[in-house]
Amino acid sequence: MRLLKPEELNENVFNAIGREWMLITAGRPEHFNTMTASWGGLGFLWNKPVAFVFIRPERYTYDFMEAEDSVTLTFLGQTHRDIYSLCGKLSGRDTDKVAATGLRPITTPQGAVSFEQARLTLGCRKLYSDDLRQERFIDPDCFGKWYHDRPGGGLHRMYILEITEVLLKD
Ligand SMILES: Cc1cc2nc3c(=O)[nH]c(=O)nc-3n(C[C@H](O)[C@H](O)[C@H](O)COP(=O)(O)O)c2cc1C
Repeated sequence: MRLLKPEELNENVFNAIGREWMLITAGRPEHFNTMTASWGGLGFLWNKPVAFVFIRPERYTYDFMEAEDSVTLTFLGQTHRDIYSLCGKLSGRDTDKVAATGLRPITTPQGAVSFEQARLTLGCRKLYSDDLRQERFIDPDCFGKWYHDRPGGGLHRMYILEITEVLLKD
């Protein structure tokens, strides 16, 4: 693993997040939860490199996002679709996802949780959160499609995270 500065990353984020997917892991090495996500982004805000993610309140990971300071986004590459499928279907409320998937947790230099299987880890610190609200949708189709016609739970909470650590596997 190599430590990089965020600006040294050379990623197509549309493919990495939208097609490869990622794990959002919140918590400490001794107490964490992880889930698959394919919505979010990377960018620059308040003069900081940031990531933003969207988590429904029903997720067990949401409880960890609220309670814990440390969050990582890990990208496993295309060879671990099985892990993404399980972490996107099972809940940490009733399943030990590490045992179920064979994920091998590691601790990053800043003390956050990543996994041996990760090709890329973004270690993050929470800066801001807010809930999406129906009345703020400018395009009502987005609300209709994702929250009304196909209810998969409540409206997402958005978290803006400062990227404080970037680890890339050589
Ligand atoms: C490809 C994929 C992408 C997903 N993206 C998100 C997402 O961005 N936000 C979200 O809240 N849930 C998302 N999910 C659903 C969660 O991963 C799923 O509900 C998971 O079981 C939650 O686990 P938890 O209860 O342990 O937190 C996604 C699922 C899959 C399969």
